[in-house]
Amino acid sequence: MIYLDNSATTKPSAAVIEAMTRALQEDYGNPSSLYRLGLSAEKLLKASRASVAKSLGASPEEIFFTSCGTESDNTAIKAVWESRSKQGKRVITSSVEHPAVLNCCKWLQTRGADVVFLPVDSRGLVRLEDLENALTEDTILVSIMHVNNESGAIMPIAEIASLLRKRGSKAIFHSDGVQSWGKLPLDMKALGVDLYSVSGHKVHGPKGVGALYVKKGLHLPAFMHGGGQELNFRSGTENMPGIAGIGAAAEAINTGLKESVERIWAAKLHLKERLTADIENIKFNGPDADGPGACQSAAPSVLNVSFIGCRGEVLLHTLDTAGICVSTGSACSSKVRGSHVLSAMGLKPEEIEGAVRFSFSDENTPEEMDYVADTLKEAVASQRRLRAAFKKR
Ligand SMILES: Cc1ncc(COP(=O)(O)O)c(C=O)c1O
Repeated sequence: MIYLDNSATTKPSAAVIEAMTRALQEDYGNPSSLYRLGLSAEKLLKASRASVAKSLGASPEEIFFTSCGTESDNTAIKAVWESRSKQGKRVITSSVEHPAVLNCCKWLQTRGADVVFLPVDSRGLVRLEDLENALTEDTILVSIMHVNNESGAIMPIAEIASLLRKRGSKAIFHSDGVQSWGKLPLDMKALGVDLYSVSGHKVHGPKGVGALYVKKGLHLPAFMHGGGQELNFRSGTENMPGIAGIGAAAEAINTGLKESVERIWAAKLHLKERLTADIENIKFNGPDADGPGACQSAAPSVLNVSFIGCRGEVLLHTLDTAGICVSTGSACSSKVRGSHVLSAMGLKPEEIEGAVRFSFSDENTPEEMDYVADTLKEAVASQRRLRAAFKKR
């Protein structure tokens, strides 16, 4: 099988599985317990927190474990609203966020929030002028994702943080980093964010565990009340196998990000080259439209392509038959028609209909990409032939 849907989820690495197995079989104590078994679980908890912190250029006290990227996003957004909505009602986000942010902000609207959904340009990027125009005295939260899960666009996060500082804004700045963690070098201080969400299963870790970076000094109300775990911020006995897994995944980022990203780029660029050479009437969407090679503002991990005159969904099933996994949009919304991200970028209906998202991991090879390109060439030609014959009737 050739797995090219790594933005939906990734295959857990051997190191992750080993760490999780050990947590289940040996370190199964409760980290709050005072005897040795508990202390050894607490040691594991600390080590995982330190690894995640290092991968984000943060301190361990700034990392809070959650159950997933969605929970990290919900916690960040709702905790800011809970603590600041008396000071202001404006929340600024983008129209291309993942539903974890988008639907959270829509829910805030029902509570009286004045939410601005910023548009994006044709590459899928938020424009700083639009943010500047939307920014008011009573803006309490700005939530803009780092890498978009469908277009691969890298948003100008450091520039947004610097704009907020320049304008003297009191807004808290949250970024959904679920698709940037393990794909870009990250340093929370250099980025200038207050809150940053990540998820284990997008970086060869397990499902059901995520983390939220909360900048030191920023005090937010607890999201889950109970026994006071996670410094009283997120109660509930810690998901130790998950935390051991996300810690091992973070350790792999700490030790091998550069090499891993080089391999991801090599696979993506090889596929891009082959598709350009072999298949007519296609369109690269997002920053990858800017030409051959590694485009500015394009993440290594995503290639979104419209095969004009085809239905992406039919291509997905043809590729599946050939042992290749791809997606037509984000996995969470793949059962909903049309992509809100591609629509916001202004793509024509036939470009949206023919869109396929390829998302890469460092396990993909250029040889695999040759097989994908050959299979696609045949699949696209046959679908176009069929559709043309059907039209003639
Ligand atoms: C950008 C982005 N944010 C949030 C999420 C949700 O993460 P999780 O599946 O861990 O809840 C995803 C998952 O696809 C995502 O791509």
